Amino acid sequence: MERRSVLKSLGGLLLTPPLINSRWENENKPALRIAHITDVHLKNEFGAPDKFVKCLHHLQRQTPKVDMILNGGDIVFDMNKENIGTIDDQWKLFNNIMKSENSIPVRYCLGNHDIWWNENNKGQAVYGKQYSLDQLHLSKPYYSFEKGGWKFIILDSVHLDIDDTWYIGKLGQEQFSWLENELKTTDVNTPVLVLSHIPILTATLMIEDDVVNKWQMLGGDMHTDTSKIIKLFYQHPNVKICLSGHIHLRDKVQYNNVTYICNGAVSGAWWKGNRRETAPGYGIVDLFADGSFQERYVNY
Ligand SMILES: [Fe+2]
Ligand SMILES: [Fe+2]
Repeated sequence: MERRSVLKSLGGLLLTPPLINSRWENENKPALRIAHITDVHLKNEFGAPDKFVKCLHHLQRQTPKVDMILNGGDIVFDMNKENIGTIDDQWKLFNNIMKSENSIPVRYCLGNHDIWWNENNKGQAVYGKQYSLDQLHLSKPYYSFEKGGWKFIILDSVHLDIDDTWYIGKLGQEQFSWLENELKTTDVNTPVLVLSHIPILTATLMIEDDVVNKWQMLGGDMHTDTSKIIKLFYQHPNVKICLSGHIHLRDKVQYNNVTYICNGAVSGAWWKGNRRETAPGYGIVDLFADGSFQERYVNY
């Protein structure tokens, strides 16, 4: 688009519009800048609260500014087998920090540590995923929304097993049908970003010490319905990028023109430094109107 200089004369005073950052003027300006934080695992130990605040401040100082935060799950340290008092404390700490230290809109996805699996408390109304859904004011653990011309699909990777006390990475039939319908009803020109806690596809699981004959891939490490999801995405070329966490390692796999990014962890190795070569960090993703994107992992 041709740029015209606009000059206004007011009572002899000549006003020129302020200089605008050239990156915002060309056709390729990002429609939206996302910060992807995952695996915060917050609790009042290991200096975690101060480090998390540092991360939030760091991402809020980015220029251009971040428009939206995606929190990819494992929000609190661990709810699984804890008692309700510990769980309440972790969430209170999390909510207080988000309220006082962050001013950017956030959308959430649940991780396996945001689920309560203490068998002795199965009768309680907030057992399982309900406690975290209530904290996050979500009616369902999977949902979608549109922003900046992109569609965001938030998945619930954590599929409860038969007795609701452990999990595998899977969507399940109901959620898979919902996903099929979501993609079918999305305009083909609307690019799609998918957020899940457990990776749909990652190479990080192949990095193991002492591999002799085979790698071991557990059902909780990566989605077990990967081939089904990939086949579905193949029918919808507007699916561009899938973000995940869970492994606390950073990698990027491209398959069929979809980029799958496992985006490290804000907590690194659960607040004890790096996890292998991946330092504590978060992702910055610039989404463009034409469906392209640029991204990087930022150590804060
Ligand atoms: Fe985690
Ligand atoms: Fe996890």
